[in-house]
This record gives sequence, C-alpha cells and structure tokens, in this order.
Amino acid sequence: MTSEARILIAPSVLAADFADLGQQVRDVTDAGADLIHVDVMDGRFVPNISFGEVIVDAIRRSTDLPLNIHLMIHNPDDLLPCFMKAKSDQILVHAEACPHLHRTVTKIKEAGHQVGVAINPGTPISALEEVLPLLDIVLVMTVNPGFGGQSFIPEALDKVKRLYRTIQSQGYAAQIEVDGGVKADWTAQDSVKAGANILVAGTAIFNDAEPVTQSMARMHGCVHGLKPE
Ligand code: DX5
Ligand code: ZN
Repeated sequence: MTSEARILIAPSVLAADFADLGQQVRDVTDAGADLIHVDVMDGRFVPNISFGEVIVDAIRRSTDLPLNIHLMIHNPDDLLPCFMKAKSDQILVHAEACPHLHRTVTKIKEAGHQVGVAINPGTPISALEEVLPLLDIVLVMTVNPGFGGQSFIPEALDKVKRLYRTIQSQGYAAQIEVDGGVKADWTAQDSVKAGANILVAGTAIFNDAEPVTQSMARMHGCVHGLKPE
C-alpha cells in the first residue's frame, strides 16, 4: 500500500432496511459507494445472528460493486464456499475465530479472492504477524463486533498507526480497513490520518435522518484530500 491509497467507503448493509434490501444496495451503489460491506454473524463467535448465504447472494445480485464480506463466524473453513462465489468479492475472516489462520487465508487466496483478516479491539497486531505478508486487507475493528450503532473505540487508532508503519516499512500490500462507529467526523478523519483507507459505515449511511445520497456525500467530503500522517 502506498500513502496515496484511495479512500474507499464501504456502507454496511447491516443498518439497511431489510424489507427493501435490494433497493437500498442500489441506492448506495448509485450514491458512490466503493464496496458493499456485508456482515455475516453466526450467534457463536459474536452474540448476534445476522444472515447467511441466501441474503449474501441477494445482495450480490443487487450491485456490480465488490462485496467486502466480513465473516464473524467461528471456524469458517467449511462455510467458505457459501461466500466465495464472485471472484471480485473480498473475504474477511477473524483471527480469533480461525484455529488454522494460515490455512484459511491460503484457501481464500487459492480460490482467487482478495483476503482480509479482522482483529477485535482486544487482539494485538502480533496475532497477524505470520500472515501479514499474504493479506490484501487488515480489518481493525473499532468496536467489539456483533452490533451496529456502537461507539468508536478511540484506542484503536493507535493500533491502526502501528499497523500502517509496519506495512509501510516491510513493503507489504495490505490495505487497512476500520469498522464500527465510523461517522462523517473525527472518527473517519483520524482513521485515515492513522493509515486506514477503507472506511466501513453502517448507521452513518443508512439512517432515517437523511437520504443515502447525502450521507455518502458527507462521508466522502469529510475525508477528501486527507492522507496518513
Ligand atoms: C459490527 C459490524 C459492523 C457494523 C458497523 O459488528 O461488523 O460492520 O455494521 O455499524 P456502525 O457503522 O453502525 O457501527
Ligand atoms: Zn463489519
């Protein structure tokens, strides 16, 4: 990753109106989303169940954008084929959920997908050390995963900074993504300044206060021109 990496906005459909999901995905696509963030929760790795393969397939049919598929699934290996369909889609697994992380990462790469590993707020960067050279994305959770609408954990910014420095100094390719509590304010701006270039936003994009065209424009506008410091 270079310091000039483009800032990508990935609306999380977890906050969308599921009675109108296809239209909501089309709306954020038209409003300039770069990726669609898809939260799959199993009720075991995280204390919530969201949706599985059938809904991911429906989202897939509603946009041409790459899906950024965030698997909050304990030991996801056997379920990977349910989510590794369109080659453009990015598959993200949790370091804490994979007993054989290197094998899982390798499987996803060998299937031709971009691969990411997510780490919870309580998980150190060192948990990634051995797989970091293989990764396209590191997802730094800025909330404890399981629910939308939580507050950004500011301590995660220092982790992003340290991770960014490591990636730069080693010449690795991984982009840094942040997820949880990201709004069109200091949370997005400080994340970019710390080195993240993929911003996930759920409730900041899908809410009753404004149409997604406005919330997307505000998110893009608030980070426009910012770079890692
Ligand atoms: C949380 C999910 C997030 C969530 C973000 O476990 O991984 O992607 O949808 O929602 P907000 O942006 O509302 O915190
Ligand atoms: Zn997520």
